[in-house]
Amino acid sequence: MCGIIGYIGIKQATPLLLQGLRRLEYRGYDSAGIAVLGQHGISIERAVGRIDNLIDKIGGHTIEGTMGIAHTRWATHGGVTEFNAHPHRGCGEDIILVHNGIIENYRELRKEFSEKHTFVSQTDSEILAHLIESHYDGNLRHSVAQALQHVHGTYGLVVMHRDHPDTLICARMGSPLVIGMADGEYYVASDPTPLLTHTKDVTFLDDGEIAELTREGINIYTLRETRIHKDIQHIDWDDEQAQKQGYPHFMLKEIFDQPTVYKDALRGRIIEDEGTAYLGGLNLTPEEIRNVNRIVFVACGTAYHTGMIGKYIFERLMEIPCEVDVASEFRYRDCVLDEHTLVFVISQSGETADTLAAVREAKRKGAIVRGIVNVVGSTIARETEGGTYIHAGPELAVASTKAYTNMIAVLLLAALEFSRMKKMNVAAGQRMIHALYEIPEKMKKMLEQSEHIKTLAEKHKEYRDFLFLGRGVNYPVALEGSLKLKEISYIHSEGYPAGEMKHGVNALLDPAFPVFAIMTKNSLYEKMRSNIEEVRARGGKIILLATEGDEDARDFSEDIIFAPPTMELLEPLLNTLPLQLFAYHMAVALGRDVDRPRNLAKSVTVE
Ligand code: M6R
Repeated sequence: MCGIIGYIGIKQATPLLLQGLRRLEYRGYDSAGIAVLGQHGISIERAVGRIDNLIDKIGGHTIEGTMGIAHTRWATHGGVTEFNAHPHRGCGEDIILVHNGIIENYRELRKEFSEKHTFVSQTDSEILAHLIESHYDGNLRHSVAQALQHVHGTYGLVVMHRDHPDTLICARMGSPLVIGMADGEYYVASDPTPLLTHTKDVTFLDDGEIAELTREGINIYTLRETRIHKDIQHIDWDDEQAQKQGYPHFMLKEIFDQPTVYKDALRGRIIEDEGTAYLGGLNLTPEEIRNVNRIVFVACGTAYHTGMIGKYIFERLMEIPCEVDVASEFRYRDCVLDEHTLVFVISQSGETADTLAAVREAKRKGAIVRGIVNVVGSTIARETEGGTYIHAGPELAVASTKAYTNMIAVLLLAALEFSRMKKMNVAAGQRMIHALYEIPEKMKKMLEQSEHIKTLAEKHKEYRDFLFLGRGVNYPVALEGSLKLKEISYIHSEGYPAGEMKHGVNALLDPAFPVFAIMTKNSLYEKMRSNIEEVRARGGKIILLATEGDEDARDFSEDIIFAPPTMELLEPLLNTLPLQLFAYHMAVALGRDVDRPRNLAKSVTVE
């Protein structure tokens, strides 16, 4: 939600900031703006819409200066207008800032300031500039720290002042900020992706911290202005991974990345001789694992669907009760947790506000909390007492694809490791490992059908409603297929467990309501087949995902995609890929903005 980038150094800031904004655009794309401090003062440009609009507005003229801040907005308070675009200024136009988060008491503060200050936007962010202005005493860091004592809410904040051409001040409460260090130059951003071109040495600000960036170095303080030391972390993401590499969209590239990044999730974590896996970061002894008597998966959106799959996996392999909860519900429920409950929080960004709140709630109640996270050093990764990275690399399309796959891969590895400590024998463990090793080649077979799936999407692009059906471990896959379709093509769709159809949903069936059914050969094949017969009997139009060699499946539909067979619990690793491709090709056929669907942002850091 909103992307921030700041730079102080020796190079011209404008091209670096604009390049950074492009990398952050997936976080919000309602408007964008930039402020650069040079010898002739501060230049500001803002534009509604995409970064390209801002670039067009800047046109050929140079915004000169070696320090600046920039922002891409996902609107929360105040409409999508140029006035509401960041950077925001105080009345004197000396203080300029960009903000990500929500200032909850902005109405009260605005009322308090309304007699002496003039507000030009409807945003909650603008009050911060006026607040800092009112506390300004010549020491910018001190003024920001003082002002923030009056703020309730969340912020990732970068501030500059006309009279301080050598200082950027950053502060964090609830909205992520990462500082990148190169030679004589410093960057600050909402996440590491725009920094990768310049440096991989970073430090993540924690809540309640304030950083002073100068050309000589950085100093970090608490909001009470006590100086603190923070470790530098090295991010091993490859800048190449954050480029489109010839694909028309990040989403398509990320779908096609899956066979490769899946191997990264497995790498170094399998002990074949012993038929097990080892996820060291989970930081759990065999004794602790054996003492777990319940697992709760908590996440949002696509990550939540992987939690649902986790439930099937752990119940089958570990024979332990499992629950799944969406984080926005979990955090406010009277959930019963104790020291024998293991809570897996799953998040690509590691910054999702509800998921983070769930981490804190579960810790408060004494549960064992472990993260399954993609972004290294993200808040959830740091706030959990252990966890495992999914190693999917930077995921830039708003629609999550490769992170989903690697979350499932890691859940399978964890279940294998835990189960081998409880009941699974070595031969069963080795069978599962071999099945896991076969997945990348089988994924490639799925991806080779992209053109065929494109044809199916073209054929169905006039339909306004879709139903996705699955059973067992393919029920969450159906939900994921449905979410992908709505998210990027804006077509209404629902995901359902096929066995539930006759309890109400069958009433919707007619030829204008196509059904995408996952009928692969597993323990529920016969049941699923009967459900699809019922759909067919009621005139439902079917697109079928079936297992290679299942020639009977052709009786159900001419629109078939075939998946190679695999172990039942591994099916989501293959079966989701054609659903991702279907949503992708449908969105392209409908002329949608695939990587940046309307009203959404990649990283949901506000509640
Ligand atoms: O970063 P997270 O995994 O915590 O994000 C959770 C959801 O916001 C995310 O999965 C969302 O549903 C995706 N855009 C779906 O494609």
